Amino acid sequence: MEKKKFYITTPIYYPSDKLHIGHTYCTVATDTLARYHRLLGEDVMFLTGTDEHGQKIEEKAKEAGVSPQEFVDRIVDGPRGVRDLWKLMNISNDRFIRTTDDYHVKSIQYIFRKMHENGDIYKGSYKGKYCTPCESFWTESQLKDGCCPDCGRPVKDAEEEAYFFRLSKYADKIRDLLENTDFLEPRSRVHEMVRNFIDPGLEDLCVSRTSFSWGVPVDFDPGHVVYVWVDALSNYITALGYGNDRYDDYEQGWWPGVNIVGKEIVRFHSIIWPAMLMSLGEPVPKKCFGHGWLLLDGGKMSKSKGNVVDPYILAEQFGVDALRFFLMRTFPFGSDGNFSNELLIQTINTDLANDLGNLVSRTTAMVGKYFGGELPAGCGSWADPAPFDTELKTLASGLRDRYAAAMDAFAPHNALAEVFKVIQRANKYIDENAPWALAKNMEANGSRLAHVLYNLLEAARICGILLTPFMPESMDKLFAQVGADAGCQTWESAARWGGLSETAAVAKGENLFPRVDMEKALEELEAAVEAARQAESGVELEPQLTEQVDFDTFCKSDFRVVKVKSCEAVKKSEKLLKFILNDGTGVDRQILSGIHKWYEPEDLVGKTLVAIVNLPPRKMMGHESNGMLISAIHKEKGEEVLHLLMVDDAIPAGAKLC
Ligand code: MSP
Repeated sequence: MEKKKFYITTPIYYPSDKLHIGHTYCTVATDTLARYHRLLGEDVMFLTGTDEHGQKIEEKAKEAGVSPQEFVDRIVDGPRGVRDLWKLMNISNDRFIRTTDDYHVKSIQYIFRKMHENGDIYKGSYKGKYCTPCESFWTESQLKDGCCPDCGRPVKDAEEEAYFFRLSKYADKIRDLLENTDFLEPRSRVHEMVRNFIDPGLEDLCVSRTSFSWGVPVDFDPGHVVYVWVDALSNYITALGYGNDRYDDYEQGWWPGVNIVGKEIVRFHSIIWPAMLMSLGEPVPKKCFGHGWLLLDGGKMSKSKGNVVDPYILAEQFGVDALRFFLMRTFPFGSDGNFSNELLIQTINTDLANDLGNLVSRTTAMVGKYFGGELPAGCGSWADPAPFDTELKTLASGLRDRYAAAMDAFAPHNALAEVFKVIQRANKYIDENAPWALAKNMEANGSRLAHVLYNLLEAARICGILLTPFMPESMDKLFAQVGADAGCQTWESAARWGGLSETAAVAKGENLFPRVDMEKALEELEAAVEAARQAESGVELEPQLTEQVDFDTFCKSDFRVVKVKSCEAVKKSEKLLKFILNDGTGVDRQILSGIHKWYEPEDLVGKTLVAIVNLPPRKMMGHESNGMLISAIHKEKGEEVLHLLMVDDAIPAGAKLC
């Protein structure tokens, strides 16, 4: 029998900057769902990729002094780029599309032409409010406080000759799709879309641009490039071969698929995308699921706010599986959630180290200690089960179906909550049976002890199967430790208590999830973030000197706080500034400093600085200098950067540094 086909996608990412934990959240979630469907035995196609056209990329490339193609290539394929990140995070995508791929470009031209030929795309002129970072035109009524409703940044008036898509023609059909089917989830997003976009009346959509050129050219009207969202949304079908001969999966029945997207792009995916498909005469997606955002300190992460969380650093410090798990366990998938490092560490310690890790390590250690790593044949059954035996078995055998219901409802957090109920029950079962007490009299209690341990291995095995989509690598290790071979790692066997061989070889291996020392880990994280920031900004620091200076020599240097009374450039010198300083003695002190490259004299008057005041006087360009102002200096992208040391104005002139 042919396997059921399941096609699932993430949004394709803008490679305008490196990806952060928010992007990772969305991709990990989609990967988890894809792996779940593979576990179900379905034939899965999982697509991700990058959305590489548009004005923003064109501008960024210009700033960086490279061509747009070079710019995106670097972020997609370069070190620590998009592909590297997905590899690191163990993302199991079957296909990766780039909108600059030739076959996609060809398909976009085909799609645009087809909609033009059927009358759904027509030429007009566009007047509106344009948000450059979001590449979106807005109507006056859609603006929020006069700014872009998506990103809050200022918009500008724009007018250009453009092609339009007859979105308005599809308003009733889209309303029907949203209101009368379960196409869009969670349901709250339906109300949002209808209230904000359908009820006020759908307007035709501007789908070409002439103001920049980094995009797919409209082949029948050079000078126009296809609007980036038409280009981007179509990736879900061009990657299957729609309109190109690179793939033939579209004809093979892979479409329609499931589109997982973040909440701010639900509008594009639940209104514009289905309308485009209707115009092309193709089926709409099976589902659009709009997940929430990961917030930092209650706000959205963004490079410009400087509050992005780097997934590389977290994965390297805590492990890929721990990070994947945390993202799925902690934040209800449809809602926003507040990210914090403390929460991540707490989740690792509570769920992974204490609950799951302990269950596996205690159980496998006891099988090793009391039975040499192999339980006796027959230990799986017990003639007169105790109530807690039955409770554990019933809870674990029914787990698979409760888990499936949650996963099918796009609620991986609920699926995990079910799994952890069983893990916690199993840990309680250890205490109820006190295996260490049974082990004191092996002759009388040995077979009961073996049965107890078998039940624990079984509970761990079943949970392990269901945790595989979340933590694939760690669950392979778990299976090896509890002795579960491939035959008892299947979806079918997750609902079958007793699937594990009674005499399986059990081995206590490495600790699956070591406990994290919160304080130490936070300090290490801070250092890693700082190191990454410096590496990115190109900051080079002088190596620290290893030669020691004795204390008495050091104490001979007299550092004082000084206040700038006046400051002027020294004539005929490009570098020198002449300072008159109050050093607390009542007599003005003159110091010359070669810092004009970094400071204008008028900006320094009134500042509180630090100087060494017992250097011998020195003549510079005919002026005497009595001391030296203290600065910090480093290199950035090969250039020297200097910062005068400025201290609290409350410190009086003349205060001695010690
Ligand atoms: N290129 C478009 C998508 C085109 S799909 C046809 C785009 N790219 S994006 O890189 O800006 O965002 C990609 C996805 O990452 C979006 O679904 C977005 O919601 C998600 N996230 C970006 N920041 C996020 C958080 N802080 N939290 C959760 N997801 C967020 O949009």
